[in-house]
Parts: sequence; structure tokens; C-alpha cells
Amino acid sequence: MHKDLTEILITKQKIEERIKELASEITRDYQGKDVFLIGILKGCFIFLSDLVKNLKINVNIDFMMVSSYEGKQSSGVVRILLDLKQPIEGKDVIIVEDIVDTGLTINYLMKTLKARKPKSIEVCTLLNKPSCRKVHVNLKYIGFDIPDKFVVGYGLDYNEYYRNLPCIGVLKDEVI
Ligand code: IMP
Repeated sequence: MHKDLTEILITKQKIEERIKELASEITRDYQGKDVFLIGILKGCFIFLSDLVKNLKINVNIDFMMVSSYEGKQSSGVVRILLDLKQPIEGKDVIIVEDIVDTGLTINYLMKTLKARKPKSIEVCTLLNKPSCRKVHVNLKYIGFDIPDKFVVGYGLDYNEYYRNLPCIGVLKDEVI
């Protein structure tokens, strides 16, 4: 275990198993369709790449980057730092997120993207913290529900570090 972690919440093996299950669900639900995946940078980058390797349907992939956080606290203010290169009108869209916490980011993204008239739009998130929700959001695909703890690894960061850890872990208090 990394010296800055107090516990490993989800092991690499558990993540890999769950991603295969999520990919099977998506493959089944979107049979015969092309899916437009929108990865939300930077946290999604490992999850998205592992997910798409297990999808057996045609996919397009694009990225957005939004800022809502600095350090550990949600500011509630969402800004688009990088937008899509392609239109999504008439397309079946899935937003791929690392984690949904207060729901403010995904709520804002859903509103913004729905205005671009996709045929359908759903969310696939690796992690979900249901106890932290400030706004209701509809999450179709959830990897794991987790408690209200600040987690890092598998793409998730604390001040840009720890994204490369292969598991999801909880940081020691003294590090934060
Ligand atoms: P929300 O708007 O509060 O739902 O937060 C969503 C974003 O906050 C995620 O995409 C993450 O970038 C970040 N975030 C929320 N909780 C955590 C955490 O426990 N660890 C790392 N990043 C987090």
C-alpha cells in the first residue's frame, strides 16, 4: 500500500471485475447502436480506457474538462475548460465520470449537453458518494457506491497527485 494511504477501499482486481460488468451492461443496452462517450477529464482517463476495451459496440470518444474543485472542497461553480470537438445532436451519449459527489458537476454537464439535443444521454460513473448529494442526478451506470471519504487513485487525484495508483484508496488525514 502507498505510504500516504490509510486504507485501500477498492482493489485493482475488484475495479477490473466491476468494469467488465459495466461494459457488458452497456454493450447489451446499446446493441446495434453507435455510442458517443464523453470522458470528463482528467479523472476519467484510466476508467474510460479500461471501459472502452471491454465494450463490444461501435464507440466514438470525445473529452470535456471542467473545473469545480481546488483541493478537497467543492466550490459549486462549474466552468468548461475544454469542450467537445464534435456535435452530439441526434446521438446516443454516455458521460463517463470518475466520481459523483455533490452532483453539481454532472448536473451542470447534463443541462449543458441536453441543450445540444442528443438522442439520449446517460451517465456512467466509477464511483458514487450518495450521502454527499446536493442536487438530484440520474446515474444509470454506477461502479461502486462509497462512503463520504476523500479517495484517490485510478485516475482520481489530490492536488494532481496519486492518479497513478492502481487501486482506490483513502488518504491519511496528515496528508490533507
Ligand atoms: P461533484 O460536482 O461534487 O459531484 O464532484 C465531482 C468532481 O469532484 C469529480 O469529477 C472529482 O474530480 C472531484 N471529486 C469529488 N470527490 C472526490 C474524491 O473523493 N477524490 C477526488 N476527487 C473528487
